[in-house]
Amino acid sequence: MTGDDELEESESGTTLPDGGAAGADDVALDPWGSSSVSDYRKLFEEFGIEEFDEILEDVPHPHYLMRRGVIFGHRGYEPVADAMRNDEPAAVLSGFMPTGDPHIGHKLVFDEIVWHQQRGADAYALIADLEANAARGMSWAEIDEHARSYLLSLLALGFDPEEGTLYRQSTNREVQDLAFELGAEANFSEFQAIYGFDGETDVSHMQSVVTQMADILYPQLEEPKPTVIPVGPDQDPHVRLARDLAERMRFFKVSDAYASFELEPNERALVAERYDQLDPEAFDDDQLRCVHVAETLEETPLSELDVDAGTLESTLRKLNEAGMEPIRPRTRFFDRRATDEAFEALIDAIDGEKRVYESHVDAFEIDLAEAEELAREVEVDNGGYGFRPPSSIYHRFMTGLTGGKMSSSIPASHISLLDDPETGYDKVKSATTGGRETAEEQREKGGRADECPVYELYAYLLAGDDDEFAKLVYDECVGGERLCGDCKEQAAQLMKEFLADHQEKREEVADLLEAADIELESPRRR
Ligand code: TRP
Ligand code: SF4
Repeated sequence: MTGDDELEESESGTTLPDGGAAGADDVALDPWGSSSVSDYRKLFEEFGIEEFDEILEDVPHPHYLMRRGVIFGHRGYEPVADAMRNDEPAAVLSGFMPTGDPHIGHKLVFDEIVWHQQRGADAYALIADLEANAARGMSWAEIDEHARSYLLSLLALGFDPEEGTLYRQSTNREVQDLAFELGAEANFSEFQAIYGFDGETDVSHMQSVVTQMADILYPQLEEPKPTVIPVGPDQDPHVRLARDLAERMRFFKVSDAYASFELEPNERALVAERYDQLDPEAFDDDQLRCVHVAETLEETPLSELDVDAGTLESTLRKLNEAGMEPIRPRTRFFDRRATDEAFEALIDAIDGEKRVYESHVDAFEIDLAEAEELAREVEVDNGGYGFRPPSSIYHRFMTGLTGGKMSSSIPASHISLLDDPETGYDKVKSATTGGRETAEEQREKGGRADECPVYELYAYLLAGDDDEFAKLVYDECVGGERLCGDCKEQAAQLMKEFLADHQEKREEVADLLEAADIELESPRRR
């Protein structure tokens, strides 16, 4: 979803915004071009979303939304970029709650799906009808009407329904089965913590969450593959939970280890650091043993170690208990939820020296990356999914044309893809701008393109792939050569053309949609 829906949801107060939206709401989700990405810092710092800029170079022929920083963040997008670069399998999936007419915010997501599809990814778009019914109380008739409209716009923007997959949640049996299975890995306390659900929350609403988890993992049902979920940052809690559940479904967990016993990640980091510093030749019989590491740690003041006292203490205890056991780096495979056969198959598949324990195997000649691959292979061969953690990309929310937030409940604040071209023209003409009080002042100081919803329209949509044009508008604005009247006239004209063109295309793809493999009418009516 694209923001406005979420905002309405939080305003209504009936349902909590889906999770981190509560946090994201505190963050000023400023438009593209606003002072800098630092406005989004909270999303990076508090939520751990990664900056898209840092991986832009790795993306082959990035989309203009990526180049212009509209797509500002991601989680784990690298494998998707790599797969597209190397012509390996990848997938893209996003979902739409059919609660109203599709608008220019949804267009960002439609474009993102189409772009990945054109670069060889398996593309999926779904209608979140169960969610719309459960979380928004939409009737099935309303849902059907809007669903068709979303799909027409998606196809009009270039989605190929023969290559890609369209579905609605309510009629996708595989998704529902997967949702049920994933539900066994999640519990109410977790939903409470993530989404603020409480004793009053409908069970169907909770079910729509596991359904979304299944949507996100659906492209990997046949085989694991890098998958990107393009969404607004309000959906990040869903993405995080899906990444978690994907992990929890895995048969094996792979990690580094140094000895037969288990260390917590921070304890392991401490031992790893020591191991790298110490030279086995400095010890009797050239063997670095657990007690030796314990001794050197005991001699080091806590202030020089990058850990808390508790971690140091527990590490020391484990090392001392192991006593003379040699420290030897290895890769450990934990049996998490594998069948006995799968665990046996894994043991057989490990080359070189290995040690088998009750519920883990240590391999001494396989590095972590190889081990990950092997674990996934054995899992898939033995009936598991072998899910890769799904990736996401996040786009900025558009500012409303009337200033403030873009909201579907304020028609003048946004442009629907179904707006009459003249209406679109008028809305742009009456939009607020980043302009100055007077023409003189504007010529002297320049306009504030960074705070201008009209400039945003150019950058997000009207300039299309033409970076030079977007830059020209920007430079002329801030340089004082462009005045708002003319600028809006040009934007309004372009919007009118875009809408006319888009609506014509919607008509052209109507047959394509009829032929597509998706049920346009829900069998449900109540
Ligand atoms: N929850 C999304 C929204 O509010 C819709 C959705 C359902 C979705 N399933 C999804 C989005 C899977 C991305 C991926 O609009
Ligand atoms: Fe916005 Fe255009 Fe005015 Fe600049 S000139 S502030 S971009 S409307």
